[in-house]
Amino acid sequence: MTKVGIIGTGMLGEAVGLHLLDSKYEVIVYNRTKNKVENLVKHGAMLVDTPKNVAEKSDIVITVVKDASAVSDVAFGKNGIIYGVNSELVVADMSTINPNSAKEISQKFSDSGISFLEIPVMGGPNVAINGELVMMVSGKKQIYEKFKNIFDIIAKKTFFLGDSGTAHSIKLAMNLQIAMLALSLSEGITLTRKAGFDPEIFLKILNSTYFKTGMSEKKAYKMIKDNFEPTFTLQNLKKDLDIINNTAKSLGAHLPMANQANQIYQNAVDAGFGEIDYTGILAYLKKISE
Ligand SMILES: NC(=O)c1ccc[n+]([C@@H]2O[C@H](COP(=O)([O-])OP(=O)(O)OC[C@H]3O[C@@H](n4cnc5c(N)ncnc54)[C@H](OP(=O)(O)O)[C@@H]3O)[C@@H](O)[C@H]2O)c1
Repeated sequence: MTKVGIIGTGMLGEAVGLHLLDSKYEVIVYNRTKNKVENLVKHGAMLVDTPKNVAEKSDIVITVVKDASAVSDVAFGKNGIIYGVNSELVVADMSTINPNSAKEISQKFSDSGISFLEIPVMGGPNVAINGELVMMVSGKKQIYEKFKNIFDIIAKKTFFLGDSGTAHSIKLAMNLQIAMLALSLSEGITLTRKAGFDPEIFLKILNSTYFKTGMSEKKAYKMIKDNFEPTFTLQNLKKDLDIINNTAKSLGAHLPMANQANQIYQNAVDAGFGEIDYTGILAYLKKISE
């Protein structure tokens, strides 16, 4: 059976790894901070010391780290993936990064004789644990097809989108939706509260209309109870807003709302809300509305 390496066992990487183990795959793991691999090891993952060791033992290595600089560190840094190359190695990056960085990383892997796929996903650890992510893929189609069985375990839907950089461009448009939805829901809840109503009434009415969303039907009920246990941190969404705005600028796309949102999420990070869930933008609005 295909051996799958996972580099980066934060919230998303851990859930993907647990689901692969549950699906009887052999999983090899590395994380910069050692205690974050404990749960995976307890469930049967093999722990190794470096990204190089992961590469040596895997047919496919999935990187799930913070940003492009972290991908470069684990790929090309000391004891990085490229030093553990085996003849058939494929690297697939699930981190959300800038499309231009993805192209550069793809080229550097190719220069080292390693095939590279970009596999950004929609959905957090709560759905990854059941293999219900939605995956966007770019790179060489035959490599995607070779490992499609693994991607179909990780995700309920995969979309092959073409050459390097394409999957990340679409992923950015997706995360723009997340940022805006969390913000508009939070502003609606804040307005309702200030008008003296229980926000549950707002949600009940909203969810009776065409304008309801998965977020308003599910996560919003945690938000109004001030439950901001992170599945995707506010600071990681802010990181993505930076990428969205920089990419828009480089493409000549004018995105006024993304620009505004970037500033609001930055203010929330500066005010100490970065480590909680991205829906904690509601807690930040509550604080500035006091
Ligand atoms: N959570 C979600 O819902 C979700 C959904 C889709 C996409 N994503 C994307 O997936 C990626 C991971 O997200 P997450 O939620 O799992 O974040 P997370 O819990 O904050 O984990 C981040 C991971 O990146 C590693 N890392 C950061 N900088 C590094 C470096 N320089 N070298 C090596 N490792 C480094 C961290 O290692 P340490 O433990 O040592 O810090 C940790 O394993 C991000 O790009 C995020 O945008 C997340």
